[in-house]
Amino acid sequence: MIITPLSEALGAEVRGIDLRRFGDDDLEEIKAAFLKFQMLCFRDQELSPREQLEFSAGFGEIESRPDRPFTFPGIPEVSILSNRVHKGQPVGVINAGDFWHSDLSFGVKPCRATFLYALEVAKDGGDTEWSNMYAALDRLPLSLRSRIEGLHGIHVFDRRRNPRAEVDRQFKKNAENVYGVSIADAVHPIVRTHPETGRKALYISPRFVVGIEGLPDDEGQKLLDELFEFQIKPEFRYRHKWRGGDLVMWDNPCLIHIGRGKIKPPGIRHMHRTMVLGEKPY
Ligand code: SIN
Repeated sequence: MIITPLSEALGAEVRGIDLRRFGDDDLEEIKAAFLKFQMLCFRDQELSPREQLEFSAGFGEIESRPDRPFTFPGIPEVSILSNRVHKGQPVGVINAGDFWHSDLSFGVKPCRATFLYALEVAKDGGDTEWSNMYAALDRLPLSLRSRIEGLHGIHVFDRRRNPRAEVDRQFKKNAENVYGVSIADAVHPIVRTHPETGRKALYISPRFVVGIEGLPDDEGQKLLDELFEFQIKPEFRYRHKWRGGDLVMWDNPCLIHIGRGKIKPPGIRHMHRTMVLGEKPY
């Protein structure tokens, strides 16, 4: 494998491996690189949904939600993200991840790793951007850092309860079906310890965190605004211009990300996404 950093902030490109055929040694090497770079992009892959699932399963328990919209027929663990419209109907989630977030942080056991595979990419638009939450915490001014020690963020799935993340146009009409599902709020430490590296990372995002446990709302919102602004400083970030055949995996306990959208017609961006669950944040 040839592993080359993609930016100063995070991420590496991996060449020289076909993910349809990986061995235990490959997996060990990939896991080490994953912890080092937090995001890996494997170029030129040709993966069926089952092969993507098999590779993802090498990293933990696969996540699957029966009520999730737009999954691959017969394989509910694989989500379809796409702006393609067939016979007037969208075939996938059009604007997935359009606010900064860490995947499934609204869960008791949120997502450890996400795997996004690009089957088709648009010439213009459809980038994804990540921000490094180890770096954000390391460089947080001491005055701010001392204020968050021991505090917990309230993570909420329902966009209708989050004034910072309006309901997506695609789901406006059936918002109750999409966001009214019974998912309890989760409360997680704002300073999280990564389960494998032991490093501390900032664990909040404007998409999912709507308040801080135990703080009056106005005080909590002010603190969140400061943290949300700080956590996306340009020096913590890497923006990925996708190529067809990219399989990108990222480490959710220490990164937040955003789908940049703005695909210029007639461009089509068609992706398959799988996720692996982690542990209760501590
Ligand atoms: C996501 O947030 O899971 C998807 C991001 C993207 O499609 O760029």
